[in-house]
Amino acid sequence: MELRSTHWYAGEDRNAYIHRAWMRRGLPGDAFTGRPQIAIANTASDLTPCNAHLTEVAASVRNGVYEAGGIPLELPVVSLGETNVRPTAMLWRNMAAMATEEMLRANPIDAVVLLGGCDKTIPSLLMAAASVDIPAVVVPGGPMLTGTFRGTPLGCGTDVWRLSEEVRAGTLTQEAFSRSESSMIRSRGHCNTMGTASTMGLVAEALGTVIPGVAGTPAPDSRLLEAAHGTGRLIVEMLAADRRPSTFLTKASFHNAIVALAAIGGSTNAVVHLLAIAGRLGIELGVDDFDRIGSRVPVLVDLQPAGRFLMEDLHRAGGLLAVLREVRDLLDPTALTVTGKPLVDHLDDTPIFDTEVIRPRTAPLVAEGGIAVLRGNLAPDGALIKPAAASPHLLQHRGRAMVFDSIEDFHARIDDPDLDVDADSVLVLRGCGPKGYPGMPEVSNMPLPRKLLEQGVRDMVRVCDGRMSGTAYGTVVLHVAPEAAAGGPLARVRTGDVIVLDVAARRIDVETDDLDARTPSTAGFANPRRGWERLYVDHVQQADTGADLDFLVGSSGSEVGRESH
Ligand code: FES
Repeated sequence: MELRSTHWYAGEDRNAYIHRAWMRRGLPGDAFTGRPQIAIANTASDLTPCNAHLTEVAASVRNGVYEAGGIPLELPVVSLGETNVRPTAMLWRNMAAMATEEMLRANPIDAVVLLGGCDKTIPSLLMAAASVDIPAVVVPGGPMLTGTFRGTPLGCGTDVWRLSEEVRAGTLTQEAFSRSESSMIRSRGHCNTMGTASTMGLVAEALGTVIPGVAGTPAPDSRLLEAAHGTGRLIVEMLAADRRPSTFLTKASFHNAIVALAAIGGSTNAVVHLLAIAGRLGIELGVDDFDRIGSRVPVLVDLQPAGRFLMEDLHRAGGLLAVLREVRDLLDPTALTVTGKPLVDHLDDTPIFDTEVIRPRTAPLVAEGGIAVLRGNLAPDGALIKPAAASPHLLQHRGRAMVFDSIEDFHARIDDPDLDVDADSVLVLRGCGPKGYPGMPEVSNMPLPRKLLEQGVRDMVRVCDGRMSGTAYGTVVLHVAPEAAAGGPLARVRTGDVIVLDVAARRIDVETDDLDARTPSTAGFANPRRGWERLYVDHVQQADTGADLDFLVGSSGSEVGRESH
C-alpha cells in the first residue's frame, strides 16, 4: 500500500529534498523512506485544564509508534476548555473539527492517534478523522480522581450545581461554598461524573474507536500511559491493515454506542455528537434511533448525576466492558473495533467487581433509562429528555409556561419575588439553539426560582432549545428542534400557555389552537456581524441532525493536495 506521506518524501527532486530536509532535525535518514508517519493530534492546553496532561500521554504514544517502526509527529490541534471558552465550547466544536480535518489532510500524515478528554475534544477529533478517513484511534485522557469536601466525595460539576442551589435555598453558607472550591478538582483529568467528557470517552470505546478496556482509566493511573504506549503500536498495525474509520464504523457501531450510552446513563450531549460523527461517515442515523435502540436499555451504572458514585469507582468496578457484558445480547455482534475484532469479542472476561457501582442486569438502577425523544406541536423535529435524571412525578405533567427570551432575560427575572410561578409552572427558555445563541449552550437546566427553592421545590419541568451539561439533572426537555431562531414553534409560545409533557407517550405540546397564527418572537436572538460566528449561524444545522455545518457533512477523504512550491 502506498503511503500518503510518500507524496512528500519519495524521490530525488527538489521538492522531496525540501520536505525531508526541513523535517530531519536529528531524525535518521530512513525516517522518510516508507516509514509510517503517525500524527498525534493533541488537545493539550493550559486553557483546557482537563487535557493539560495529554502531553505526557503523547510521549507514551510516541514510544509505541517508534517501537512499531513508525515516526510519531505531535500535532497540536484546536482545544476547547469547557469551563473557559465563551460563549460556549459547542460554538467551536465544528471549527475545531474543521481545523483538525484540514491539518490532517494538508500534512504528510498516514494515520493519527487522537488525544482528547474535555467535552468537545473527542467529538471534534472523531468528526475530523471520519471526514479525512485515515486510520485513527482515540486515547481518552481519562477522568480525575475523586475529591472530597468535609469527608464527602465531590462530583465534579454535579456538586457545583447542587451546592450553589443549596446556597440559594439558604441551607449552605456562602463561606462553606467558597471553601469547597479548592476540593472540587483533585487531580489531572476531566470531570469525574457521568458528564459529557466521561460519556464521550466511554461511547467512543463502544463505537469501536478506542482499544477496548481503556476508556475510563483515571488520568493519573499509570495504566493510561501503558494504554497510550499500546495505542502507538496499534496505529501502525492499523495503517498496515488499512483499517480506516470507513472500514469499521458502521450503523452497527452506532447501535452499540447508543446501547452503551443508555446503560451508563450518559449525557444527552452524546446525541448531537454521535449524530455529527455519523453524518461525517455518511451513516443514516436519526434522533429517533436513540429512542428506538436506547430508551428501553436499563441504566446499570450508579454514577452522578443520576446516581451516587464517580468515574474512579466505575473503573474499579470493572469499567465499560463489565457494563457491556451485562447487555451483550443487546449489542450488534457485527460491529468492529480498532483492534480489527468485534466489540463483543472483548467481553468474554470482564466481570463486575462491585455490584453497587455497576448493577447486574437483574437489578438495574433504572429499568428503562435511555434518552427519550419527544415530539409534539412544540418540537416537530424532536426534543430530548433523560428520564433517569428527571423526577418521576414530573414525567407526566401539565403546567403554565413562564417564558424567557434569553438567558439574560432569565437571570434578570428568575429571582423576582413577584414572578408569577409555582411548583407546577413550566420554565421555557428560548434563543439558546445552535443559531439563536449562537452555539447551543448548556443552559437548559435553568436554576429554579429562589422563592420556590425556599419552599422546598427541587425540580420543575423546564423546556429549552439549548443543551444541558451532562453533569446536570432535573426534568429538562432540551434540544428542542427546530429551535426558536430557526422558526421553531418555541418562538410562538407565550407566558400563561399550558404546556403538557407526557414522556410515556413521547409528547411535548402546548395547548393552543392558534400557535401557527402567532407572530414569532425574535427577541434575544444573535445576529453576529463577522467571523466564525457569522459562518456558523449561516450554516449550522439543527440539533436533530447533529448541529454540524451543512458544508462539513460527509467526507472529503485523504486526497493529497497540490505541491506547495
Ligand atoms: Fe472539562 Fe468537565 S470541564 S470535562
